[in-house]
Amino acid sequence: MRLQVLEDYEEMSVKAASIVASQVTLKPDSNLGLATGSTPLGMYNNLIKMYKKNLINFKEVVTFNLDEYVGLPADHPQSYHYYMFDNFFDKVNIPPEKIYIPSGVGDDLKQICKKYDQSINSHGGIDLQVLGIGKNGHIGFNEPDNKLRTNTHVVKLTEETINDNSRFFDSIDDVPKKAISMGMSSIMKSKKILLLASGEQKAEAIKKAINGEITTEHPASLLQLHSDVIILVDKNAAKLLATTNT
Ligand code: GLP
Repeated sequence: MRLQVLEDYEEMSVKAASIVASQVTLKPDSNLGLATGSTPLGMYNNLIKMYKKNLINFKEVVTFNLDEYVGLPADHPQSYHYYMFDNFFDKVNIPPEKIYIPSGVGDDLKQICKKYDQSINSHGGIDLQVLGIGKNGHIGFNEPDNKLRTNTHVVKLTEETINDNSRFFDSIDDVPKKAISMGMSSIMKSKKILLLASGEQKAEAIKKAINGEITTEHPASLLQLHSDVIILVDKNAAKLLATTNT
């Protein structure tokens, strides 16, 4: 794991965008794994700026999103579909047919999950997977548990995650109780992983991910088993780490 502690959120976001841009420059047809949440917003903004200055071209890129809420249609303002188009896809040149996000709406969610994995595999897997981290150590929506699922699956969200994510909804009752998430195996099979965290509220989760025991009770700790992980954190998220840079 390579850790870089950046001064603040903006620096972290600029650095994250530069890593994605390098990936796309070196391999224009990269398969990017993308994340939602508040953390990668700055990264997306910086990528949009680079695109507008002609510093990056997404025309051959394929994207796979990590997760989606069950029950929210693509046009629901809190769906991850909506988030991705609103914050990124509508502002850059990724061809719509190269954008993959699991649908949280459908009669046969199991089939949706299966097809999603098939799409990832048929494209040869993910080259660079961007991740945020939940306060409880979840990645995507792989929640702490005594067992984790390998493939894309439907997951029951924990109370803590429902609480954390309620800030985006009018009321906590509106937060979906289930989601579809890429499994640990698709994430761990990515050639490169870029994990982002900002703010003191993530310090404990980051400490456990980097220095804690490797356990399904803290899914991000499994990243210790991956050979190419870059972790970018701001000073606040690094607060509980013994060393600042490794
Ligand atoms: C959600 C998403 C995760 C994200 C996490 C942290 O639950 N499913 O992919 O990493 O929240 O979100 P935030 O960046 O807003 O703290």
